[in-house]
Amino acid sequence: MPLDNAADISTLVQPGRVHRRVYGDPEIFELEMEQIFGRVWIYVGHESQIRNPGDFVTTRLGRRPMVLTRHTDGEIHVIHNQCAHRGAMVVAEDAGNADEFVCCYHGWTYDTTGKLIRVPLQHGYPSHFDPDDPDTAMVRAPRVDSYRGFIFASLAKDGPSLTDFLGYMTTSFDDMVDRAPDGEIEIAGGVFKHAFDGNWKLYLENLCDAAHPLFVHQSSIEAASEQDDGAHSDGAGEIAVRQMRQNGAPYKMWQEQIGIWTYPNGHSFLGDYHDDEKLVAAKRNKVFTEYIAAMETKKGKEETKRVLEVTRWNSNIYPNISFMSQFRQFRVVHPVSVNRTEVFNYMFRMKGAPEKMFEDTVAFSNVTNGTGSLVLTDDLETYGRIGVGVNSGGAEWIEIGRGYETDSPDSHGGVQGKDSTSEVYIRNMYDAWLGYMTAA
Ligand code: FES
Ligand SMILES: [Fe+2]
Repeated sequence: MPLDNAADISTLVQPGRVHRRVYGDPEIFELEMEQIFGRVWIYVGHESQIRNPGDFVTTRLGRRPMVLTRHTDGEIHVIHNQCAHRGAMVVAEDAGNADEFVCCYHGWTYDTTGKLIRVPLQHGYPSHFDPDDPDTAMVRAPRVDSYRGFIFASLAKDGPSLTDFLGYMTTSFDDMVDRAPDGEIEIAGGVFKHAFDGNWKLYLENLCDAAHPLFVHQSSIEAASEQDDGAHSDGAGEIAVRQMRQNGAPYKMWQEQIGIWTYPNGHSFLGDYHDDEKLVAAKRNKVFTEYIAAMETKKGKEETKRVLEVTRWNSNIYPNISFMSQFRQFRVVHPVSVNRTEVFNYMFRMKGAPEKMFEDTVAFSNVTNGTGSLVLTDDLETYGRIGVGVNSGGAEWIEIGRGYETDSPDSHGGVQGKDSTSEVYIRNMYDAWLGYMTAA
């Protein structure tokens, strides 16, 4: 059935279930690239990646390659990585510093706002050719804004402001930044990249799924249970063992101690998963003690206590980022095609914190988000199996109804699941999805 209008799309999302076509239909994927990734605020990078004039990083808006730049006047721009001559991608490096971008094909040259500044053999073009025409450029995203260093862009000229779009989820970004004694964080280390044969929506649908670790991650849970607490003297082993064991927490804990909160525009977070006692052994850990001392010196005891009492696990900003502040992990989901997705994992260093804490961040990434992670690889296998299943015909409907009758309003304008095993956060994403997909 071709999708002719909003009414057809609306039939795909029903109370507590969605049609499998949303994961496997190329026509729906094309519409998502237009209606979601082509319009809403999409994360494109962090200010620490482009500190100085001329700094740039390549990024994406959906499938569209973009360049995030800081111009000589300090302004930030997000420009389409596409030459206005015959369409070649202009910037091939991941990051760097440049006064201008020169296309490799015929040498058309652009400044860091995307404006065309030089055209070899210009006299050969027809008289109506105007290099100053704003469309003859590496075209800029019309809206760029940032919240506490996190930069977003939108391809829509109009729409809600970034802070309206983020809503109450701004508090998750605050949590990420406020944990730094100097009040600043920076992207550091490398980027872990991975990919799977499945739809992009599967990724965020898994990151607040409290019902899966006990099954999906069983092998590493069992291996971790057999290890000594002090495995590996550099602490990396301890981080791995703690996380893997935590994945094996019984359902009772997920139901009694952990919550799931959702907010407008598809956002959500899993809360109270780890307090710092469980994850980094706060009281016994020398580095953490030094960190708390640095926090108290810079921010005072009361503010330090307030900051460290926030125990959010993954915060998901729909449609494509998921981050957690306790180990400064930040994942960006890039749709490639209807059944192919790439994910980039970045790590943040907290200014003013002991350097060992960043080493722990890298160690944690290796455990949970690294390409060779014993945890991530389980999830990738699962996404691939879903990719096979939803594209194989058979049952029409995918169930997302767990906890449906026990969702309740929260005090910040969102909806809360009864406990963390509720699929309320997936239903919430589909509310946003439907709104975007059927918007005029
Ligand atoms: S395609 Fe870029 S200069 Fe020709
Ligand atoms: Fe998982």
